[in-house]
Amino acid sequence: MDTVQQQAEVVSYAPSPPEEFCGREEERERLAAVISRTGEHGQAVMISGPPGIGKSSLLSWLAREVRECPGGLPSPVLRAEVFDLPGMIFSAFRELVGDLRKQTAPGRIGGEGMREAIRYAGDVLEKYAAPVEPVGLLPKTGEEIIGVFARSPEVGYDRVRQAFGELLRELGREMTGAGRIAAILLDDVHLASNLDRRLLRDTVHDLPPGILLAFTCRTEGAACPGPATLQEIRDSGYPEVQLPGMRRDEIRELGERRFRLAVDDAAAALLETTCSDPFSLMACFNALRCRGLAPSAGNMADVLAGAGGPAALAFTTLSGPGKALAEELCVLNPPFPVPVVACMLKLKGTDVMPAVDRMQESGIFRRLPGTGYAFAHPLLQEHCRRELSNDARIALNARAADCFERTMHRLPGRLHVLLSLACHFFHAQEYGKAADLNLELGLRFYHREDYDTALVLTERAIASAEHLGDDALLAAARRQGDLIRQKVAGPVEPAQ
Ligand SMILES: Nc1ncnc2c1ncn2[C@@H]1O[C@H](COP(=O)(O)OP(=O)(O)OP(=O)(O)O)[C@@H](O)[C@H]1O
Ligand SMILES: [Mg+2]
Repeated sequence: MDTVQQQAEVVSYAPSPPEEFCGREEERERLAAVISRTGEHGQAVMISGPPGIGKSSLLSWLAREVRECPGGLPSPVLRAEVFDLPGMIFSAFRELVGDLRKQTAPGRIGGEGMREAIRYAGDVLEKYAAPVEPVGLLPKTGEEIIGVFARSPEVGYDRVRQAFGELLRELGREMTGAGRIAAILLDDVHLASNLDRRLLRDTVHDLPPGILLAFTCRTEGAACPGPATLQEIRDSGYPEVQLPGMRRDEIRELGERRFRLAVDDAAAALLETTCSDPFSLMACFNALRCRGLAPSAGNMADVLAGAGGPAALAFTTLSGPGKALAEELCVLNPPFPVPVVACMLKLKGTDVMPAVDRMQESGIFRRLPGTGYAFAHPLLQEHCRRELSNDARIALNARAADCFERTMHRLPGRLHVLLSLACHFFHAQEYGKAADLNLELGLRFYHREDYDTALVLTERAIASAEHLGDDALLAAARRQGDLIRQKVAGPVEPAQ
């Protein structure tokens, strides 16, 4: 094989920084047109496509485009991401409000009316989720894991929608008054639970001038995965930017700009027909670079032939310590809190921050804007989880549950802690704790009308009770499951 000089470092699998973004001219033009219409009428746009096609990267490009809109002060961009942990009620929306709060300052944005709207929306969003969160989590005492739960406050969904809508109207008023726009970016809405999807749908239908709402959604072919609300959003008449694989000129640009590799036409043609999604291209170029191979069509064919899929290929290029790190952390649900990461990796004191920095440098993790870490790309985590042996999965989940229990008093997101514990106990086969916590949380999500999450949790309680051979618990869990399923099926029509 032809070789070039050995270069070991991996280019990160995180969404592309806007300054390295390649190709997608047509899609960028469509988004630029959406931006230009926003001052007059509120706009929504959905960026869709299969895993790894470049949706989050295009969202980052859009963020920069809005921020750098010509004229006066920079336009505010609020961004949040939905993660794969069902039940994080309005957590992305809370993040958006928090982001806006941080950006308000005298002389920038945030008059009296808006500050009041931010405070009110933040309060209402938090209160709505409160019934499923405990007032105070108790540190591990041996038995007690659940803590004291709040009484249901009086906040209904309509108040949430109204408060968030009012906040956007205030923001829109300020923006249009100053000849600017604000962008709200939501990544991965296909992972959102039903309450969040409902709020997204209602928000999309009522966007004031000055507000651009852009969100990404994984789609399988032409279909939107999952629930009807997403399809409704899709049918609401706003533009959808569907990303296809990259063309050969875009592939050459990506090789040049992100890897300093001069890809010839034959090699680009091969990639265009075999693995044209950007994630696969990143894996292929990283593999060439790490193995010191020239970007010829022959080398690419060899690299791809033995790979077994792009995520597997990405892993072959990692160092031993990088792979071990990925394996040890893959059972966690993002965002990974630093104290939990430190506990999982058995790090103490001054060892923690350097190790966490190394995680980011490995190219397979990324630091999140709020707090915590995630895999640089979800496909890497999905692959890593699939590869775990049964024994490793049980042991790592047990360690994760233990780490959450030990560190919970230092963790910011109570709901994230509870849902993570419910998940880790179950996968660690600690069925006693899993049954209690999943059943309890399932009921709370039922009362909050998040039936999808309620069902996931209750099904775990049922399976746990079966393993325990506890008939009373099993009967209670099944009753709860039936109750939820009746709600999902909707009201029973009276017989004629
Ligand atoms: N236009 C682009 N220019 C340069 N790099 C890109 C581009 N699009 C995507 N990439 C790179 O390809 C990889 C996948 O992109 P990205 O994460 O944006 O995909 P995605 O569609 O959001 O994936 P998922 O469905 O899993 O969320 C990332 O490593 C990213 O840096
Ligand atoms: Mg993405």
